[in-house]
Amino acid sequence: MKVDGKPLRTIRAVAGGEAVEIIDQRLLPHRLVIERVASADEMIVAIRDMWVRGAPLIGASAAYGVALLMNADAGDAALEAGCGRIRAARPTAVNLAWAVDRMLSRLRPLPASERRAAAWALADAIAEEDVAVNRAIGDHGLALIEAIAAKRSGPVKVLTHCNAGWLATVDWGTATAPIYRAQERGIELHVWVDETRPRNQGASLTAWELGKAGVPHTLVADNAGGHLMQRGEVDLCIVGCDRVTVRGDVCNKIGTYLKALAAHDNGVPFYVAMPTSTLDPRLADGVREIPIEERSAREVTHIAGLTAAGELAEVCLVPSGTTAANPAFDVTPARLVSGLVTEHGVFPADETALRALAQRSAR
Ligand code: MRU
Repeated sequence: MKVDGKPLRTIRAVAGGEAVEIIDQRLLPHRLVIERVASADEMIVAIRDMWVRGAPLIGASAAYGVALLMNADAGDAALEAGCGRIRAARPTAVNLAWAVDRMLSRLRPLPASERRAAAWALADAIAEEDVAVNRAIGDHGLALIEAIAAKRSGPVKVLTHCNAGWLATVDWGTATAPIYRAQERGIELHVWVDETRPRNQGASLTAWELGKAGVPHTLVADNAGGHLMQRGEVDLCIVGCDRVTVRGDVCNKIGTYLKALAAHDNGVPFYVAMPTSTLDPRLADGVREIPIEERSAREVTHIAGLTAAGELAEVCLVPSGTTAANPAFDVTPARLVSGLVTEHGVFPADETALRALAQRSAR
C-alpha cells in the first residue's frame, strides 16, 4: 500500500539476502520505523514481541527467518534446530508452522551448499504469494460489499476487529482487501474499527492504515459492537483469522467470538477472510484443540500511548497487586460464521467444503 504517497510493504529482503527490513509495529501509529533484522534469532524476537504480527505476516517473517538461518549455517543440525525455535515463537497462528514446514520440505533434500539461495528464493516467493492471495480475497470479498451497496443507498457499514489489514500481511490485508478494492471501485463505505484491547491493534494499526488510505472509519470501544448492530449501524462484519479448523471453527483475536454472537443475534452477516495457509485441516474442534496464546498480564494492567510532549509512555490502569489474565485469541464456532472469504472464492464454514479446499491447496 502507499503511505504518504510512497509504496510500502511490511517486509522485504535487502542487501542481496544479507538481511530483512520490517516495520516495527509496536511503535505505530506514532512512529513509522523500519528495522533491519539480520539473524534468525532477531527474527524470533520480532515475531515473539510483535514487531511483526498478524498470521500471514508471521508466516512470511518465519520464512525469512529460515533464510537468515541459512546465512549463518546451512547444515542439517542448524536447519532442524533453528526451524524448531522459529516454529515456537508464537503458538496460535498456524501460518508460522505452515511457512516453516514449506521451507523445510524445500531445504531438507538439498545439499548444504545450495540451501541458502533456495531459502531466499522460497521466502521471496511466499511473500509474493501472500500479496496475490490477499488481492484475490479482495476480489471475492468485494462481491459481498457490492451486493449490499446494490440494495441500499448510503455507505456500506462494515465492522472489523483487530488488524487484519496490510500491516498483518505482506500487502493488502485479508479483511481489509475487500474494503480497499471497494474503495477503488468508488463504493461508499464506512468502517467501524474495534479498538481491540489489550494491545489495541484496531486503534493503533487499523485506524492508522485506513486513515492513510483515506477510507472513512470510526474507532469504537470493543464493547460498542453489539449496540451498533442493534441500531442497524452494521451491514457486514469482516474479520481475519489465525487458525481455522476443518469444521470451520475460527480462531482470531480475543473478542471476535463476542462480535460473532452479537452479529448472529442481530442477523448481521459475519464473514472471515481466510487465506488457505490459515486453514489447519489436522484440527476439528477449535475450542478444544487450538492452542491459545497467553500473553503478559502487563498488556492488560497497563496501556501505552503518547504523552503531550510526544514521548512514548505506558500508564498503569489498576490497583497495585491486581492479577490479570490475557488470553490473546478466542474461537468462534462455525455455526456463527456466514462464510470464509478465501483466494479461491467464498466457502461455507463446514467440513465438506473445507476438506475439499484443503485437498485443492495441497496439490
Ligand atoms: O496478536 P496479533 O496482532 O498477531 O493478532 C492478529 C489477528 O488476530 C488477526 O486478526 C489475524 O492474524 C489475521 S491477520 C490477516
